[in-house]
Amino acid sequence: MQAPVKLPTHVSIIMDGNGRWAQERGKERVYGHFEGVESVRAVVEAAVEWKIPYVSFFAFSEENWGRPEAEVQTLMELMGRAMLGELDNFMEHGVRFMVLGNRDRLSDALKADIDKVMSATAANKGVTMILFLSYSGRWDILQAAEKMAHDLINQPGHPVQPEDFSRYLVTADIPDPDLLIRTSGEQRISNYLLWQTAYTEFVFTETLWPDFRKEAFRQALDEYASRDRRFGKIK
Ligand code: IPE
Ligand code: IPE
Ligand code: MG
Repeated sequence: MQAPVKLPTHVSIIMDGNGRWAQERGKERVYGHFEGVESVRAVVEAAVEWKIPYVSFFAFSEENWGRPEAEVQTLMELMGRAMLGELDNFMEHGVRFMVLGNRDRLSDALKADIDKVMSATAANKGVTMILFLSYSGRWDILQAAEKMAHDLINQPGHPVQPEDFSRYLVTADIPDPDLLIRTSGEQRISNYLLWQTAYTEFVFTETLWPDFRKEAFRQALDEYASRDRRFGKIK
């Protein structure tokens, strides 16, 4: 497959539809999460091949903590195992791995796994892969506002620009997504990157996440390439 013509710098994906995918097959919801890991692998592999600098995934929202404990537990274990399992692959392909979100709610074991994979891959120069875990857009904005308020007390009178505020978000060093893909037919943001998606292009697909592989990713990128981005200006 040829590389797409107009590549985004940052593609983000709301991976949705794992439960439905499993239920359609008469299986437990978690089976869909297991299969979904393969889709993450396929997308990262394609991002490496096509040289997309940043690829990010909404893996678990703050609201997802409200799911049954068994599903939450399985998801957390699965993520720890999957990131450790991919470490060699990340090193081989120069992938820098990051997890962003509210760490306070994660177990010590998972935090240790995250730290291990993040520090091992920190100097890699290829694709940056981000997992948004225990993340929500409103949480991010609030934690940023709190930190900024603290700094402003010490440095009053400084006029705040949007770029200044962005520095306090957990995505401080990450460019805003050019493209946001959501699978499974849902067309909503579900408290994901609220601030950062101000000028993001959205692509919604009916494909359920476990079925979203290289071909589907390519289609979404082609759709992105056909968009005319104006950023409020006139061309
Ligand atoms: C996405 O699939 C994965 C997470 C939100 C963790 P879902 O688990 O939401 O699957 P559906 O939407 O119920 O099918
Ligand atoms: C969004 O999916 C969160 C993630 C993909 C991690 P959900 O399945 O939780 O979203 P809603 O409930 O359909 O909005
Ligand atoms: Mg869902």
